[in-house]
Amino acid sequence: MKQIVFALPGNEWLAERIITQLSAVKGETEIRHFPDGESYVRVGTDVLGCQVILISTLDNPDSKLIPVYFLSSLVKELGAAKVTLVAPYLPYMRQDKRFKQGEAITSYYFSRYLSGFTDELITIDPHLHRKHALSDLYTIPCQTLHTSGLIADYIIENIKDPLIIGPDSESEQWISEIARRTKAPYIVLEKTRTGDKEVKIKAPRIEEYINKTPVLVDDIISTARTMIETVLLLKKAGMQSPVCIGIHGIFAENALNELTAAGAKEIITANTIRHESNKLDITDLLVTALRN
Ligand code: R5P
Repeated sequence: MKQIVFALPGNEWLAERIITQLSAVKGETEIRHFPDGESYVRVGTDVLGCQVILISTLDNPDSKLIPVYFLSSLVKELGAAKVTLVAPYLPYMRQDKRFKQGEAITSYYFSRYLSGFTDELITIDPHLHRKHALSDLYTIPCQTLHTSGLIADYIIENIKDPLIIGPDSESEQWISEIARRTKAPYIVLEKTRTGDKEVKIKAPRIEEYINKTPVLVDDIISTARTMIETVLLLKKAGMQSPVCIGIHGIFAENALNELTAAGAKEIITANTIRHESNKLDITDLLVTALRN
């Protein structure tokens, strides 16, 4: 089936790479806001009978979702055979239970919403914790891609004698795989979060690894409190400044500067969200998935 790739605003750089590697057609589109803030969407490419691929990473999701919804609805109305949403960062995964009475379980609502207007979702390392697969939430087919190979290669090429550190129990799923690939030891810390910016970390038996290079790996860096508290703890324990690797670097507010100031030796992310810290390129992962 002919593949047509449309970039949502801000995703043109990734769409261009995918178009080139897939030899796909570039979808022409106009997306803008009216003076009153409402969205305007138009396509200038015939999509009849084609697979339409929408590229839109979804950090800061609330403002990005309406254009994605409108564009997807439009191409379906114009006869697209299939709409695939490529969202390298998939939001609304962390509120996967009612932590306090009366709270919305937004991971569930969001999955229903997205499943309602796309036919397929491709994403990278979604935050799966109490849900073990996207199929537990989404009613459309989902391809979940992983950066563990990219992270392991980076560590092998750049870091001597690493100790892979995950900040909390859910991180074990990715750090164990990175440790397996790098043949490095790993430890999982104990995290308690009591608020958006209130995080406590415990690191049992960290002294055993005092001479290693600590490599902290988490899936998301948002406020960076998780990483900051861990960096401070490791430094207090007498370890070297850690290399901090986050797959999705959201860096809310002043998070990047605060993490640097806490003493991170280096901060590295994948380009699921474009940022100056990007050193891990996800393009090939996406292209392979789209070829399949
Ligand atoms: C949640 O458990 C995630 O895996 C991350 O640890 C979390 O989202 C990081 O958030 P922050 O940077 O705000 O501490």
